[in-house]
Amino acid sequence: MKNLFFPVLTTWIVGLLPLQAQIPAATAKMNAFVSGLMSRMTLEEKIGQLNLLTPGGGVATGAVVSSDVETKISKGQVGGLFGVIGVEKIRKAQNLAISKSRLKIPLLFGSDVIHGYKTTFPIPLGLSCSWDMAMIEHSARLAAIEASADGLCWVYSPMVDIARDPRWGRVAEGSGEDTYLGSKIAAAMVRGYQGEQLSANNTVMACVKHFALYGAAEAGRDYNTTDMSRIRMYEYYLPPYKAAIDAGAGSVMTSFNEVDGIPATANKWLMTDLLRQQWGFKGFVVTDYTAINEMMAHGLGNLQTVSALALNAGVDMDMVGEGFLTTLPSSLQQHKITLRQIDDACRRILEAKYKLGLFEDPYRYCDDTRASREILSADKKQAARELGARACVLLKNNQQALPLKKSGTIALIGPLANNRHNMLGTWAISGDPQAAVPIMEGIKNAVGNSAKVLYARGANISDDSVFAKKVNVFGERIDIAPEPAEQLRAEALEVAGKADVIVAVVGEASEMTGEAASRSDIGLPGSQQQLLQALAKTGKPLIVVLMSGRPLTLTTENELATAMLQVWFPGLEAGNAVADVLFGNYNPSGKLTMSFPRNVGQIPVYYNHKNTGRPQPDGPTEKFRSNYLDVANDPLFPFGYGLSYTTFKYDNLKLQATLGLNEKMDLSFTLTNTGNYAGEEVVQLYLRDMEATIARPVKELKDFKKVLLQPGESKTIHFTIDREKLSYFNSNLQWGADPGMFDIMIGSSSADIRLKGSFELKAKS
Ligand code: BGC
Repeated sequence: MKNLFFPVLTTWIVGLLPLQAQIPAATAKMNAFVSGLMSRMTLEEKIGQLNLLTPGGGVATGAVVSSDVETKISKGQVGGLFGVIGVEKIRKAQNLAISKSRLKIPLLFGSDVIHGYKTTFPIPLGLSCSWDMAMIEHSARLAAIEASADGLCWVYSPMVDIARDPRWGRVAEGSGEDTYLGSKIAAAMVRGYQGEQLSANNTVMACVKHFALYGAAEAGRDYNTTDMSRIRMYEYYLPPYKAAIDAGAGSVMTSFNEVDGIPATANKWLMTDLLRQQWGFKGFVVTDYTAINEMMAHGLGNLQTVSALALNAGVDMDMVGEGFLTTLPSSLQQHKITLRQIDDACRRILEAKYKLGLFEDPYRYCDDTRASREILSADKKQAARELGARACVLLKNNQQALPLKKSGTIALIGPLANNRHNMLGTWAISGDPQAAVPIMEGIKNAVGNSAKVLYARGANISDDSVFAKKVNVFGERIDIAPEPAEQLRAEALEVAGKADVIVAVVGEASEMTGEAASRSDIGLPGSQQQLLQALAKTGKPLIVVLMSGRPLTLTTENELATAMLQVWFPGLEAGNAVADVLFGNYNPSGKLTMSFPRNVGQIPVYYNHKNTGRPQPDGPTEKFRSNYLDVANDPLFPFGYGLSYTTFKYDNLKLQATLGLNEKMDLSFTLTNTGNYAGEEVVQLYLRDMEATIARPVKELKDFKKVLLQPGESKTIHFTIDREKLSYFNSNLQWGADPGMFDIMIGSSSADIRLKGSFELKAKS
């Protein structure tokens, strides 16, 4: 077979051309400014720039919160702060640096702005289910406008960790299991945050995290070991970080896990060879919270040793741990590190400040007039409502139970039906749960006087007080009612008895997902399962609204429910957004970005798996095939799945039989809305390489489009196939495509393929 592969260095190389002549004038000006400043800095002041502190008041995700922050700022020992919110406080802190420190170097002000700032949007996993790149970019743009109006210039987002294990609580913060989609979202978020001009006072610097492979923590247990082949890394886990960097992300955050046995925060291959040399990353690298110090627990030595390891590996900024501040001077004296390394790190941080315009005006993000105009403005709330609706995924809709009619009596039941505390989801540290719209309020807003809404709580989120205590670390997310569970259920049944339809809002508390929120059993807690069982027995239509930060195992619920709507944690406008979908003001268009397993034993279950040599054929389980005795291979709800109130027909596929190596192929088909509602369909293009040098997945997403069609309307949809779409990393980590046959699958989900074809890639043009 002709070798059409190239060493990865030629494709992932971007940064090896810094000839003097090619440096743009603006960069040359920045370099001169930073060099001038650095020539006046003492060693201590340079190391000070590498120190990132949090004075508390935010969310401390590690054991420590910084002390003596004001003194340290005055002494030039701090490069940036996070967890300080609001123009007034930020101005005060900046003023310390500007008026008290010798060189008046401004501070960076960062924060975990993950899914909106004060206007909280749906959790990222939910946002990803919209498959709407423009909306996702817009959400980041709005978050940047709000956060910068409150004094911030740096956000710890996007989180682009690919994850195939829903036991891991942090799947809520990412975009699911797919590399292609995840990469598109990563780039869209960076564009949204950083805008056209980083120095504008309404844009912020993005921080891509967590570099790298954090989403592959073994057994889904947070902070656990990751270990995988280079091919898997290059092919599936690394591209979203690369996409964010190609989109211009100004900073990168290390991850807590190890990569090839070396914690990411000390991994030179990762941060220097790959990130900077191969990918050409020009920004700065910050550690995750105390990640340097944690390398002592990983078993890599004392604080001085691990701090030196991190600097040697390519870390520029130390988050909270102060290992750099306290040990780098001795390490330099003992020749464990070089002055050049300190200079490089310091330069990158000063460059970030320069790009943000902080040297020109340290108070650039401290405009007192902006916050009152921008924060929680009507346009942002409207966006939260639209995004909340677009994140919803309709999992089941028997007898067209949805959309609901705005008439008769609705029994609204469940521990999340009239609950404010859990609407925002995890990592909404600047959002105010009290401002969130509960589902009941949204439903009442929607029906007005035309339908009667009866409410009963029906169950606690969980009856287990020990579990509740673990979940309630940031406030009461699970409150256990004084009444016995039987009484709560009886009240619910009484309400259900008076209604025409039951809407049960069930699921997880917001902090049952997120950081350090792994679960080994990802089913609905028993209290809520029992409630659904009891409600189903009434024989009335049972609409299950599911709130969760991860795919749950829903086999039983799927049998009990007439309809099921997955709403994730919808954010500030939760109730209004969910009501928009329930009553058909918005026709659901979300598609899952993570497979929903049938049971925990199937995990990891993901759509782009390999075929194996003994694939299970369609039909009954066979001996000596790759399968289980007790469960099917496929998930309950697959990647790309989601129903609509309307139906779509796919036909008329047109493609060529052959494709020259350097040619592009236009592929087209007709999509028709065959139902009664206007609706959007996410059409998905999957490919399978039938003749490769390594085993390739049974299908891989290579493109998608979200198309709006009126009832009866048809559109011709086009995709372009080129060599890039057919390429992969071979065993030598070279990127290329093999001549030979490819299968094309176009569908409404990864398991609902509507059109199939194949073509041959020729070795020549
Ligand atoms: C998390 C990061 C976060 C950081 C700062 C860490 O524990 O892993 O995602 O950005 O804390 O709050």
